[in-house]
Amino acid sequence: MSPFLITRILPEDATDAALRADVLEGLTGTPKTLPPKWFYDAHGSELFERITALPEYYPTRAEREILLARAPEIAAATGAHTLVELGSGSSDKTRHLLDAMPDLRAYVPVDVSGSALRQAGEALAAERPGLLVHALIADFTRELTLPDTPGPRLVAFLGGTIGNLLPAERAVFLASVRALLAPGDALLLGTDLVKDPSVLVAAYDDAAGVTAAFNKNVLSVLVRELGADVDPGAFEHVARWDAGREWIEMRLRARTAQTVKIPALGLAVDFAAGEELRTEVSAKFRRGGVRAELAAADLRLRHWWTDREARFALSLSVAG
Ligand SMILES: C[S@@+](CC[C@H](N)C(=O)[O-])C[C@H]1O[C@@H](n2cnc3c(N)ncnc32)[C@H](O)[C@@H]1O
Repeated sequence: MSPFLITRILPEDATDAALRADVLEGLTGTPKTLPPKWFYDAHGSELFERITALPEYYPTRAEREILLARAPEIAAATGAHTLVELGSGSSDKTRHLLDAMPDLRAYVPVDVSGSALRQAGEALAAERPGLLVHALIADFTRELTLPDTPGPRLVAFLGGTIGNLLPAERAVFLASVRALLAPGDALLLGTDLVKDPSVLVAAYDDAAGVTAAFNKNVLSVLVRELGADVDPGAFEHVARWDAGREWIEMRLRARTAQTVKIPALGLAVDFAAGEELRTEVSAKFRRGGVRAELAAADLRLRHWWTDREARFALSLSVAG
């Protein structure tokens, strides 16, 4: 069994303060919004894993297909000794990369979900002798200090999670990733691609209602963490394609007019009947746009791989 370390970069009280600040800002703004990172308590992380297996949710299968086909090429192109993974979740697809990287010395999964990190990290450390697994409970949109592990480093950001950031947030995020890279390091980025809107909407509004439960889970987080007086059943799940901005929006629509009281924040938020709260944006990409966003952060696109149906892309880029 290899060593398994877990470091909490975000102290519990900082998480609590960040949630309060986000809820205060998001629910008093127009339109009302909440950032998607608050979906991922232990239950939310489990629901996300169920989403990845749904027939309508193609991104996980498409990205896995690319990883299975390209992992040896990625390993050879990077020669990485440390794999850092942002928003690693269950690290399930990452296993294909790890399998292709026999020289890897350290794996550093980074996630806000301590439960997902613990489960994935302990299993990987038990299975892979010689691999140091050092998990970081951290917010990847804030400054990250990585553990001192051997280079070169490959930083992976899979699952299309970059699409959950708004364009201005992506620019800041990519610049912060660039700042983590030393010469010889690389970024492996998973991006979901623009496609037929009916396919996209179905992926975020599945017949079994798992995505609806995932979306409403953010309200359960507000009840538990902030004592919010809100019934998740009083909201319905909405997934909508915004053709102009080329992103899917997940929203929660109030079934009736209601006031949500949040005693921990001294807040009473009025919802009109039918009013919508935006809980997630999931941007879809084209090759030129990805290349341009990378270039703006001083990252150069070296490889672009898609699955056979060109639904999803993995790109490998390097500094400058
Ligand atoms: C869409 S899931 C993708 C999970 C996994 N990488 C995959 O490809 O299946 C997003 C993951 O990022 C994590 N996450 C979301 N926002 C985060 C943030 N700001 N900082 C760190 N982790 C975050 C979530 O907890 C979740 O595990």
